[in-house]
Amino acid sequence: MRVTRGLVLALTIPAFFVLTAASTLADSTPSPAASGGTAASGAAGLPGDPSRGEQVYASGGCTACHGASLEGGVGATLNPIDKLPGVKNPLDPNFLIDIITNGRQPQAGDPRSTKMPAKGGNDKLTDQDIKDLAAYIIVQNRSGSPPLSPGELAKRTILWVSIGIIAMVFITYLLSTYNMRWIARRAAARRR
Ligand code: HEC
Repeated sequence: MRVTRGLVLALTIPAFFVLTAASTLADSTPSPAASGGTAASGAAGLPGDPSRGEQVYASGGCTACHGASLEGGVGATLNPIDKLPGVKNPLDPNFLIDIITNGRQPQAGDPRSTKMPAKGGNDKLTDQDIKDLAAYIIVQNRSGSPPLSPGELAKRTILWVSIGIIAMVFITYLLSTYNMRWIARRAAARRR
């Protein structure tokens, strides 16, 4: 009887922790989508707003050469981004902003290389449009997994720490019941 009460306690207290952590996590699930907005774009180290960039990409004439989903065509593949000759890191925001703003001449000695016109030939693009385009290309290349915000990180830590505590409580429970049985057996043996 006492054993069952112990078992119930050993399971309900950790279960409480798990449920608390799980509900905090459930509350947080819509936030990754929201963090694509302007508020988090600076925090994630992005040059602009990727969701705005997606719209600019579709309506700004980029698709004609780079494909509707960045798959490339006349122009370079943008996801996964081609490493053009002479470019160290094609996902460097400064490089992206520069090439979209100023275009790029065909590279001598590379027969596949063709001309990227300044602003893709669309003079209406603003500096902000270009930053947003760069952010969009970067996020797509990270395969849609934006870095965790501090709040998210904290919630995940809470979850894993709770799971750790639960595991330890449970192991302690198992060890103590085993120990109790062992003591009882010893006492019985001595009484004989
Ligand atoms: C007329 C066709 C054309 C249009 C329109 C165009 N591009 Fe390009 N783009 C190219 C070509 C060609 C290259 C490759 C240049 C090279 O090989 O040196 C390129 C390269 C790039 C690169 C570098 C890719 C890499 O692998 O490093 C980026 C970024 C880029 N374009 C973004 C854009 C964006 C954003 C738009 C829309 C505003 C756009 N382009 C519109 C033809 C185009």
